[in-house]
Amino acid sequence: MVNIFDQWLVGNAGDLRLLSAIGIIVHWWILQYTIGLLTMVFIVELVGRRKNDEQLLKMAKSMSKIVAVNFAIGAATGSMSEFGLVIFWPNLLRIVGKFFFVPLYLEIFAFLAEVVFVYMYHYTWDRVDPKLHLTIGFFAALGSIISALMIVSVNALMNYPIGLHPTYNPYGNGAWTAPYFTLIDQNGNTVKYVPDGNNPVPPANLDQLLESTVSYYGIWGLLFSWPAIVSFLHAVGAAITVTSFTLLGIYAYRYLTPRNDEEKEYYMKGIRFQSLFALIIISIQGFIFGHMSGTDVAHYTPEKLAAMEGTTNQFFTFGKIIPTEPLIAFLSYGSFKAKIMNYDTIPEGFRPPIIIHYLYNIKIGTALLLGVDAVILVLYFYILKKQLPTWFIKLQVLTPFAANLVATFGWMVREIGRKPFTVYGLMTSEQAATTQPVSWILIALVIIYVVSLGAITLILDYKIGKRK
Ligand code: HEM
Repeated sequence: MVNIFDQWLVGNAGDLRLLSAIGIIVHWWILQYTIGLLTMVFIVELVGRRKNDEQLLKMAKSMSKIVAVNFAIGAATGSMSEFGLVIFWPNLLRIVGKFFFVPLYLEIFAFLAEVVFVYMYHYTWDRVDPKLHLTIGFFAALGSIISALMIVSVNALMNYPIGLHPTYNPYGNGAWTAPYFTLIDQNGNTVKYVPDGNNPVPPANLDQLLESTVSYYGIWGLLFSWPAIVSFLHAVGAAITVTSFTLLGIYAYRYLTPRNDEEKEYYMKGIRFQSLFALIIISIQGFIFGHMSGTDVAHYTPEKLAAMEGTTNQFFTFGKIIPTEPLIAFLSYGSFKAKIMNYDTIPEGFRPPIIIHYLYNIKIGTALLLGVDAVILVLYFYILKKQLPTWFIKLQVLTPFAANLVATFGWMVREIGRKPFTVYGLMTSEQAATTQPVSWILIALVIIYVVSLGAITLILDYKIGKRK
């Protein structure tokens, strides 16, 4: 019987992956709110100024205080993730540093711009002309978005290296076929590189081939490759979606525990605003960006799609209850007759951990529930123009947790689904990793550290949000 956790945390640099996962997830939990709140605060201030609405302006101002705290802690956790990248995965840097250093380098400048504009935005409230203040807010949000673009484009290269052309034919019998890369040699000729499925060690001249391929595509071609753009849109969309549902949940909680009628009215306004915003952003996120992400997975890494959809007879999968395969094949390849790769035909060396099937289905199911929730809210507020039942407002307190689950499981699917590779097809996690062993004491210390940091952030944000 195959272990469901096979290749996940067991073997293949599992302990290092656990440490990296803790760092990256905690960093994401904090930075998503920096991106989301900076975008949200700019929109709320813009609408507030245009409508001359004091309550909206008050909302924007209190959000800007939370951004200031979050940003500082996000910078600390970001350093943790970047140091982790250098220390745990020295050979990954050999690829990224040698062929793709520009985005990581530019990220430093985006980050510096963010530092300046985030704090300038916070300290110039009511002190400078409103138009100038909005302009500062715009640049703060832009800085965070450009920073995300740079980091995500490196992550996209790890998931979808340039020149990758899997040979999988979705109109065949669904069996795995070896993917190959179309690389360019120094004379500009096309060279096919076929990684060996059972022992995916790159050929000796791979560095040379990659070098000429990267110079052929150019740095902008890499930075703005289609998978990089799609990954960036889905990741930034996720940050804004999670922020919107989090604010919805917080306003609902505050509405249920008000200190006076004025506060009740203020928080109801927050719920109304966020419900409309949440519906718009989750629809774009699901129908457009989510669909584009799924299509990229299908075309560039069909093994990952096989694991996500659980096309196996070895495990229990959701497809055995509701057979969705033809629909997913249609959404991925544009035809009901297309076939998703059969997971059981994939050789060990290319097989992503099947756990992503469960993570992905829970992610999509929860995202759908959030979508339905937002539709009901908007229906009540804007179409029926009725009061919401109290039990339904109570339910909104759960939406921040649900939205975080969707985004966190999204990252887990993306990162675990790439295993056993760190750079798909080119470098396994074992090849990328340091050879120094990791002790469980170190892992325990890191867990204690990040839990404390998370608790401090939550307490500070709560106290700031509570102050009038
Ligand atoms: C129901 C609609 C959705 C679909 C079909 C969808 C699809 C996907 C797919 C296929 C991936 C994996 C991409 C990869 O491995 O390259 C992914 C990742 C991800 N998803 Fe979604 N998603 C949906 C909704 C959402 C929502 C609502 C959120 C946020 C609350 C979200 C957050 C994320 C994140 C953060 C990732 C990892 C980063 C990335 O791949 O961009 N997704 N999603």
